[in-house]
Amino acid sequence: MTELFSQAQAVTRWLDQYFTAQQAEADKLKQAMAYSALNGGKRLRGCLVLSSAQLASDISGQKLDSESVLAVAGAVEMLHAYSLIHDDLPAMDDAELRRGKAAAHIAFDEATAILAGDALQTEAFVILSTLSSVSAEQQIALIRTLAAASGLQGMAGGQMLDLQAMEAQLDASGIRQMQELKTGALISASCIMGGIAGGGDALLVNALERYSQAIGYAFQIADDLLDVQASAEQIGKPAGRDEEQNKASIVRLFGVEKARQMAQDLVDEAVDALSAYNAAAQPLNGLAQYIITRNQ
Ligand code: IPE
Ligand code: IPE
Ligand code: MG
Ligand code: MG
Ligand code: MG
Repeated sequence: MTELFSQAQAVTRWLDQYFTAQQAEADKLKQAMAYSALNGGKRLRGCLVLSSAQLASDISGQKLDSESVLAVAGAVEMLHAYSLIHDDLPAMDDAELRRGKAAAHIAFDEATAILAGDALQTEAFVILSTLSSVSAEQQIALIRTLAAASGLQGMAGGQMLDLQAMEAQLDASGIRQMQELKTGALISASCIMGGIAGGGDALLVNALERYSQAIGYAFQIADDLLDVQASAEQIGKPAGRDEEQNKASIVRLFGVEKARQMAQDLVDEAVDALSAYNAAAQPLNGLAQYIITRNQ
């Protein structure tokens, strides 16, 4: 996991430098964006980009341009930070704590938080469209993958289903569908984008997609388990809120034990998806295990 730690640090450093280099008339907006992108976070999605790119490069033989891959990871983390700001807004989950600090709408104000989310989202695409060392074809694929994972057929669509599920009773497949969109889509995009940036062929990108679909679902089950079992101090965000807000989840539907078992089975499935790549898949296998054993 020291590899994971240094990858996460590299992504944070990249984001820090990015914001430092920005000259903006709207300084308050820049501060709110930087606050929300740099206020901690595990950088899981950024690490998935870096590890997937490394695997693709090992297999394809395409030399990895570390600055470009870090930029891709930074773009994904900005998109994710935007999703968290909006998720915490009073009209959504109404959460005042994020990553152990005041949520953006508390640290600033609601209107600034909304704008910071908007601008983090679009900034991610500015970054992807100014990458220098990827082919035009790779660049379009990166942009399309992130855009598709974020909108109607991805995160935003899943967040809509999450809100509606507070009234509708979802069964296990309804919950999976909702979670695949709200959380799984961006996690999948992280792996696929890493695969593209590392020059992976269709076979490898397909294996990464299968891996990522399994860990994406496992990730949200782990998040829902932490909501039930951990303290706010530990997870840096309100605990016990899902029950309070009547959120649909596998944990609420089947209980802690079955949810835990399902998460472990999904990790096994993820490892299986990459078994053809032997030792080169080790970092991604480690990340899959981390996703369900993490305590924050
Ligand atoms: C939290 O994601 C939001 C969900 C999709 C459940 P993370 O647990 O990856 O949040 P950070 O980035 O580490 O704060
Ligand atoms: C959020 O899911 C998913 C997003 C798209 C941000 P949650 O609402 O469970 O995430 P947390 O628990 O607030 O981090
Ligand atoms: Mg939510
Ligand atoms: Mg939430
Ligand atoms: Mg949660």
